[in-house]
Amino acid sequence: MIPSSLTPKDRLVLALDVGGIEEALAIAQDLAPFFSIAKVGIELYAEAGPDAFAALHDLGFSVFADLKLHDIPNTVNRTARVLGRMGVEFLNFHAAGGIEMMKAGIEGLHEGATAANTEVPIALGVTVLTSNPDASAFPERLQAAADAGCDGVVCSALEIGLAQSAGLRTMVPGVRLAGSDAGDQSRVATPGEAVRSGADWLVIGRTVTAAPDPVAAAAQVLAEVS
Ligand code: C5P
Repeated sequence: MIPSSLTPKDRLVLALDVGGIEEALAIAQDLAPFFSIAKVGIELYAEAGPDAFAALHDLGFSVFADLKLHDIPNTVNRTARVLGRMGVEFLNFHAAGGIEMMKAGIEGLHEGATAANTEVPIALGVTVLTSNPDASAFPERLQAAADAGCDGVVCSALEIGLAQSAGLRTMVPGVRLAGSDAGDQSRVATPGEAVRSGADWLVIGRTVTAAPDPVAAAAQVLAEVS
C-alpha cells in the first residue's frame, strides 16, 4: 500500500548497481541515513538473487525489485507470483509488453502476496527508458500501464505531469545533481526539479554512488528534496 504522505527520505531510492552483495550492502549501510528504499536491478539480482532482498530488508530498507519483467503473460504471471511471495515492496514490468502482460503480472503479485500473507507490492510500468532521448512512445505506454491497473509508472521528470493526469504515481530515474555527469542517461533532471515536478519517488544512482564523496552527495540530494 502507498502511504498517504511521504517524507523526503521515503521518496529516495538508492540504485545498488553493483555486481556483489558485499559491495551493495556496504554502500547501503553508509547511505542508510538518506534512503528508505533500496533498488535491486538486474546486475545485483544476477549475482545475489533473492538473498539481496532479505539482506536489504534486514538493514531496514524497503526493496524495489527493478527486474523490468517483459515476457509472455503466463511467464510474467508466474514470475511475479514468486516475487510477490518474497515480500518486495515494488516490482516493475515493461509497459511495452502490453496490457495483458502487465495484468497477468499484477495478478501474480496478488496471488504471491496472498500466499505468503504479506503486503501486495506496488506495481510499476516502465514507460520509456530514461537513456532514450525519444519519448514519443510515452503516451501509449502510460495508457497501457493505467489500463492494466498499475499503481504507477517509471518515467523521466519531464513526463510526471502526464502520468499524474492518468492518476498514476511516478518513480523517476535519470536524476543528476547539478554538474554531475549524465553518463548514458538522456532525459535527466536534478533532485529539486524532479520533486518540484511532483515525483513520488526518485531513483538515485551514480550521481551519489560514483561521486567523490557519496555521503556528501546523498546529503545534498536529501536537502534538495526537503
Ligand atoms: O546511475 P543512474 O542514476 O543513471 O541509475 C539509474 C537507475 O535507474 C539504473 O539502475 C537504471 O537501471 C534504472 N532505470 C532507468 N530508467 C528507467 C528505469 C530504470 O535509468 N526507465
